[in-house]
Amino acid sequence: MNAKIAGLGYYVPKRVVTNDELSKHMDTSDEWIQERTGIKERRYGDMPNETTSTMAKEASLIAIERAGIQKEDIDFIIFATLSPDYYFPGCGVLLQRALGITGTTIGALDVRNQCSGFIYALSIADKFIKTGTYKNILVVGSEMHSMGLDFSTRGRGVTVIFGDGAGAAIVQATEEKDKGILTSHLHSDGTFAEELAMISPGSHGGFHDNDQEKYGFKKTDKPGGGYFVTQKMLDEELTTPNMNGQLVFKNAVVRFREVIHEALTHAQLEPEDINMLIPHQANLRISQFIQKSMNLSDDQVFNNIQKYGNTTAASIPIALTEAWEQGKIKDGDLVCLAAFGSGFTWGSALIRW
Ligand code: UT7
Repeated sequence: MNAKIAGLGYYVPKRVVTNDELSKHMDTSDEWIQERTGIKERRYGDMPNETTSTMAKEASLIAIERAGIQKEDIDFIIFATLSPDYYFPGCGVLLQRALGITGTTIGALDVRNQCSGFIYALSIADKFIKTGTYKNILVVGSEMHSMGLDFSTRGRGVTVIFGDGAGAAIVQATEEKDKGILTSHLHSDGTFAEELAMISPGSHGGFHDNDQEKYGFKKTDKPGGGYFVTQKMLDEELTTPNMNGQLVFKNAVVRFREVIHEALTHAQLEPEDINMLIPHQANLRISQFIQKSMNLSDDQVFNNIQKYGNTTAASIPIALTEAWEQGKIKDGDLVCLAAFGSGFTWGSALIRW
């Protein structure tokens, strides 16, 4: 069996947030954001009516309909997100409940690989299909970043980049020999774990930087630590993401190219064989750098970060869906997906459409 993408869907919230709107809350400008990232605007969810799992449901319903299946035909869910509704349980079970497919007690798995989450999830789905375990897997990437960002000037290096949204794919078993996911490649390097991270709240207790004071952790007379979140974390707003942007950028441009070439070499293909590259929408400058260094034409690369910002695990399925809706991906095309981000983790997949 091969694993093909039988249906795609995406959902973005209605609320458009422009760069000018952000500049009312922090010291930034439309000019800076566009020049450094290419982003013009992003979407923010309508709290509390929208969450990571409700957006995922909207995207999933479209993907299910386009795949021509019933939701009861889904035999596994894989949900990638870094901004889950709850610390636990994960969004997979919330999506299962929201879709009303609890009767079949199918498995639901959460993937915590941030920007590369969708590629990791897709790769897992591919293996489950190829081993004959499942026939229709719902693979979702969804993010509600706007709930967890720092809207003061201190957070501007991170906040201006991220947006909310969800994308979904039905990964389906097919007997067609030369169709579907040809290969996928996953990597990580935990050396840089804290360079793009939201480390608190958590159970780290100040261990990794040997500094309990910094986070307000204190030994108590209770048998355990007693908390994931401290008053100091709340008072000093230590519960938002941080990023060493330049380090991430430098690693991203190397790893993106490396992992795309790895997939091409494995499949005995060349960059000119790619009909559509969908890079994780991290920064338009990163996509442009990859395009140029691989000598790809504008028609071979799809970007939509200008409209949605960086939606982390959702960025690839949203972009893939838009490219497909616009008729830019046709039967027989070679589609390449690639991502790099927090962890660091990165990956690629080649799909014969
Ligand atoms: O999807 C996950 C993976 N993430 C990425 O791939 C992100 C990779 N990194 C990047 O995209 C870029 O590094 C950023 C867009 C995050 C930042 O761009 P940069 O060109 O690397 O800027 P920088 O961090 O080196 O900062 C340059 C200056 C600094 O000011 P000084 O020290 O030169 O006075 C920053 O404080 O720009 C300042 N700055 C801002 N100014 C206005 C940082 N953020 C902003 C902002 N508005 N939003």
